[in-house]
Amino acid sequence: MSTSATENDTSASSPIEVLNHRRAEAQLGGGEARIARQHEKGKLTARERLDLLLDRGSFQELGTFVRHQVKDFGLESNRPYGDGVVTGFGTIGGRLVYVFSQDFTVFGGSLGLAHAEKIVKVMKLSLENGAPIIGLNDSGGARIQEGVASLGGYADIFLQNTLASGVVPQISAIMGPCAGGAVYSPAITDFVFMVKNTSYMFVTGPNVVKTVTNEVVTQEELGGADTHASQSGVAHLATANEADCLLKIRELLSYLPSNCEDPVPIVPTDDPADRADAELDTIVPENPNKPYDMHDVIERVVDGGAFFKIHPDFAANIVVGFARLGGRSVGIVANQPSVLAGVLDIDASVKGARFVRFCDAFNIPVIVFEDVPGFLPGTDQEWRGIIRHGAKLLYAFCEATVPKMTVITRKAYGGAYDVMSSKHIRGDLNLAWPTAEIAVMGPKGAVEIIYKRQIAEADDPEAAKRGFIEQYRERFANPYVAAELGYIDDVIKPSETRRVLIRGLEMLQNKVATNPRKKHGNIPL
Ligand code: HXC
Repeated sequence: MSTSATENDTSASSPIEVLNHRRAEAQLGGGEARIARQHEKGKLTARERLDLLLDRGSFQELGTFVRHQVKDFGLESNRPYGDGVVTGFGTIGGRLVYVFSQDFTVFGGSLGLAHAEKIVKVMKLSLENGAPIIGLNDSGGARIQEGVASLGGYADIFLQNTLASGVVPQISAIMGPCAGGAVYSPAITDFVFMVKNTSYMFVTGPNVVKTVTNEVVTQEELGGADTHASQSGVAHLATANEADCLLKIRELLSYLPSNCEDPVPIVPTDDPADRADAELDTIVPENPNKPYDMHDVIERVVDGGAFFKIHPDFAANIVVGFARLGGRSVGIVANQPSVLAGVLDIDASVKGARFVRFCDAFNIPVIVFEDVPGFLPGTDQEWRGIIRHGAKLLYAFCEATVPKMTVITRKAYGGAYDVMSSKHIRGDLNLAWPTAEIAVMGPKGAVEIIYKRQIAEADDPEAAKRGFIEQYRERFANPYVAAELGYIDDVIKPSETRRVLIRGLEMLQNKVATNPRKKHGNIPL
């Protein structure tokens, strides 16, 4: 990487040869040696990544010959074509997308003014033309030699990310370093994918952490893919390697419309709409305290059992992701009885809320599978603000105007009953399985409060309590009280769930619902 070898190439060659030379030079980025170093680290180059991401031969580069105009720190004699980022457009599954892919072989993929302008240019095109933008991040951060100009470049990108939010899907892949303020562009985007072992994200790295807090932590522990996919929730998916990451992005896009005005894509399926699944009729254990895996329910209902999980390793007590029903994309939000009994805690609430808001922004109907014993008690949750965070999930379901269908499989207790897309907050089709228990709280907790005195005064308090529990269960722990009131539209056999949901989706396909006119709401952040 030095002064362009083609600077003086115009005299001897034809115009086409000049172009070919320059193109070849641009293709090489930071040169063979740095490309070899990139490969040694188990990383692909910016262009190799685009080859895997996009449909074969579909990439059209923009800004191939852009170079920085900096005159300081010797940069004037080091002006590689492209300035460390490959930008342009192409297709995924035949549909238009815009891309930028940072080239670590050029100044460590660091971001200066020209680099930022290239990114902003494709972001603006994506917004104006209503197609997703995908950013492949691999960068040493702000280009130190460019000083405040690079900070300005980041701010320009953050603004574009924010303006595009809710208009076009924005997807980030972290495929190397992403540190300091640079993390905030991916953070604003809708989905963040990371690659295990070769990517990391942090606001300050291990050295600064050591100096400030005296904690000793590795790069991987502090901000690697597993950390962010399981602990912080910053990453939606930790992928095994770069190819896996890029293929998963392609798969995710197959579920999404190109922008907020478009309908969801329809992918024809040979899975019959009226397929009954007898296994579902016995999937909920008789013992209400026994867990089962909600993934089994979801996969038995959706087209071909295909479920694209988002945040699978973060707050696993709630399950969210994309699937199709009768060929149409849907977003699924489900309590997971096999993790913490499916209770709602802070992380689960935030995870669910962000997902519901994404679906609502992009016209993706939301299907809820509900088995929730309530919100998680305890000082940790209360002091960290379960009230504020739980309110996010409630708010997200309340404001969503997309078709919303809920299936209560077992428990729907307390405030969590209201929150999980109940009829009262504009659920369109609220169904229950015969195993549903819809009540203010579980039978044991309820009788201990309302029959406290009678139990204490009984000759055999334990037997008395059992009797009261049985009475309570018969009276309240079923779907029929709610169904009598019209809060449940129908009680269905579990095996019929797929058929009823697909018919519901068809029934709701022209749904029009609006919210009062406003600048924007004030979700409890
Ligand atoms: C200019 C940079 C650079 C940077 C790396 N390079 N980071 N050039 N500005 N920020 C160059 C190196 O000089 C080197 O050039 C090449 O990229 C590869 O870097 P290496 O250090 O050899 O690679 P590696 O050992 O893999 O280490 C990668 C790295 C390290 C961890 C990213 O380079 C690093 O710590 N860089 C500085 C990170 C940083 O502090 N950035 C600013 C953060 S603050 P040659 O010519 O030798 O190949 C920030 C604020 C954003 O980003 C604020 C937005 C609001």
